[in-house]
Amino acid sequence: MTRVVVVGDLMTDAVARARYPLARASDTPAIVTMHGGGSGANIASWLAVEGAEVAFIGRRGADITGRNRDMELMGYGVDARLVMDPERPTGTCVVLVTHKGERTMLSDPGANAALSPEDLPRDLFSQGGHLHVSGYTLINEGSREAGLAALEMAQRAGMSISVDCSSSAPLERTGAEPFLEWTQSAKLLFANADQAKVLTGRDEPDAAAKVLTAWFPQVVIKLAADGALWYTNTRSEPVKAPAETVERVVDGTGAGDAFTAGFLPAWLAGKPPAEALAAGNRLAAKAIAHLGARPRL
Ligand SMILES: Nc1ncnc2c1ncn2[C@@H]1O[C@H](COP(=O)(O)OP(=O)(O)OP(=O)(O)O)[C@@H](O)[C@H]1O
Ligand SMILES: [Mg+2]
Repeated sequence: MTRVVVVGDLMTDAVARARYPLARASDTPAIVTMHGGGSGANIASWLAVEGAEVAFIGRRGADITGRNRDMELMGYGVDARLVMDPERPTGTCVVLVTHKGERTMLSDPGANAALSPEDLPRDLFSQGGHLHVSGYTLINEGSREAGLAALEMAQRAGMSISVDCSSSAPLERTGAEPFLEWTQSAKLLFANADQAKVLTGRDEPDAAAKVLTAWFPQVVIKLAADGALWYTNTRSEPVKAPAETVERVVDGTGAGDAFTAGFLPAWLAGKPPAEALAAGNRLAAKAIAHLGARPRL
């Protein structure tokens, strides 16, 4: 089995679900819960509970939430290699869910923004492993050098590499060209439809995926309730897999992360793309059926 090394963000999600329309500049009763989050850490957690051998490289604050996040990752079975930042707090995201279910996120990367090349444990970069880099690490200026260093170390070690695009608005601010330039060594790119559009200017996911195969040997586009698409730059036909039927979508946070964690082990094991896509859809369906972005233990 291939060891997966994830470089990415670690957050605490403070999820506030309002019970009534928001009373601006006043109080609104809500149900507030705290969850482990951060796209990279979510992917690592799902991979671990799926039985993969996985290490996570990230940065936390020297605070109690950082300690909790660290122990939580260990609980999932992740080999968590967290560097403690002496000043910055552990990253936190305030997720505001209105009584109608609309989601707004206010994120403070905290310690994540200071991830540096020195934080990358050399022993994790070795032949035969796989590196997955969260787009946030590359998009955020403070951690970019670390993301780039990880990509370079993995390439030198002969590891296979995948990258995801994280989030369309920050990706747009970064710009398609630099992002595509930085991620050239990746064999596989994950994007959702919005991110694929930012990278290519194409509205239509199939058209966008096709354009992206000029940059990446393989491309996966996540299509929310429509499932996911796989494209390659070889002559193989594209593959589309429908999403699972989910009775009740409880919380969409982390669906994309769970998808990635479902897809990767099958893909690394050399399974056909249809099978890897189905595995991704299956784990994503599991993620949206409960609250929070991480697996239930
Ligand atoms: N309503 C749904 N029913 C079933 N599966 C879904 C639904 N919404 C999302 N999914 C699953 O989640 C996967 C990822 O969703 P999406 O395409 O929104 O990616 P994402 O935008 O990266 O994720 P997120 O919205 O969590 O940031 C889809 O490929 C699909 O498998
Ligand atoms: Mg989405």
